[in-house]
Amino acid sequence: MQRSTKSTVIVAAIALAAFVTSFSTITSGSSTVALAEVEQGGQAPPAANTPPKPLVPVAASSVAANPDPYVGEYVTMTGAVEANLTKTSFSVDQDKTKSTGKEVLVLAPTMQKPVDQNGYVTVIGQLIKFDEKDVAAKLKDYKLDLSPADVAKFKGKPVVLATAVINNAGIDVAKKPIPPMSADDLTLQKIMTKLPTAQAAVRKSLDSKDMAGAKEQATLFKDSFTQIEAFFKSKGNEEAMKIAAEGKQHADAMLVNLGMSNVEAAKTSVTPLGGVCGNCHGKFRDRMEDGTFRIKTAG
Ligand code: HEC
Repeated sequence: MQRSTKSTVIVAAIALAAFVTSFSTITSGSSTVALAEVEQGGQAPPAANTPPKPLVPVAASSVAANPDPYVGEYVTMTGAVEANLTKTSFSVDQDKTKSTGKEVLVLAPTMQKPVDQNGYVTVIGQLIKFDEKDVAAKLKDYKLDLSPADVAKFKGKPVVLATAVINNAGIDVAKKPIPPMSADDLTLQKIMTKLPTAQAAVRKSLDSKDMAGAKEQATLFKDSFTQIEAFFKSKGNEEAMKIAAEGKQHADAMLVNLGMSNVEAAKTSVTPLGGVCGNCHGKFRDRMEDGTFRIKTAG
């Protein structure tokens, strides 16, 4: 008994460590820069769940006893589940053998399945004092589903707005499944995957004054941006169309200058052309946790 409790705690601790590591990798400046260089302007946005402040480890009992020092902080809070309240909410207590009456509310909009009653959990998220209006302001797409009685009960009490809920099997039950790539994603991916190589190739061709090579790459850009523009036109996304059209202009300008054998002038299009990629990715590309991408519809 003693042993199994210990090992599950260790598993949870490992899962937590993995989490914290992934946060720090994503936020560390150098990895972002490395990605941007590879892709020439296609910078990786931070993951949606990245907390803006360091995480504060805390026990639910400490929060229940004295919440004030933690209000506004991003916490990793451990505790025993007191009750599953709704599909996206539960309460946490300090002791799994008895109810202490001092519970901390957890709202986890992305909960995929309930937590085990009395099981230990580690919850990651911002801690605030519960107020319907504040919750609505912080969790824009979330519809609070607590009963009026619970809304009244927890008013002014500490609540964690959780982005991760790790159970005692080390599984994050608030992790959204990664959606499969749609036909549209695959269409766009096919065009996109050629572009980073073309960017490297066009630089090389221009540097070595390989006119034929540079023309070939610039033509590939022009064709690709034309296809990207047509794609977003079919989706009625005017802003993305405009960005693609801008890319096409830079490719055109490069072709015109290459036509006049003016390599130096052609080179001036390389950087703005790369900037177009990042512009669109920042608005219309989503990065999944597994490193794959999806089209983002709401800019
Ligand atoms: C108008 C919008 C737009 C422009 C311009 C654009 N991209 Fe993309 N790009 C996207 C979107 C959306 C995705 C995600 C596609 C998907 O669902 O896989 C993407 C995905 C990618 C990927 C990931 C492909 C994969 O799945 O491995 C790469 C690499 C990429 N783009 C490179 C570029 C480069 C380089 C440029 C500029 C030369 C560029 N893109 C210009 C919108 C754009």
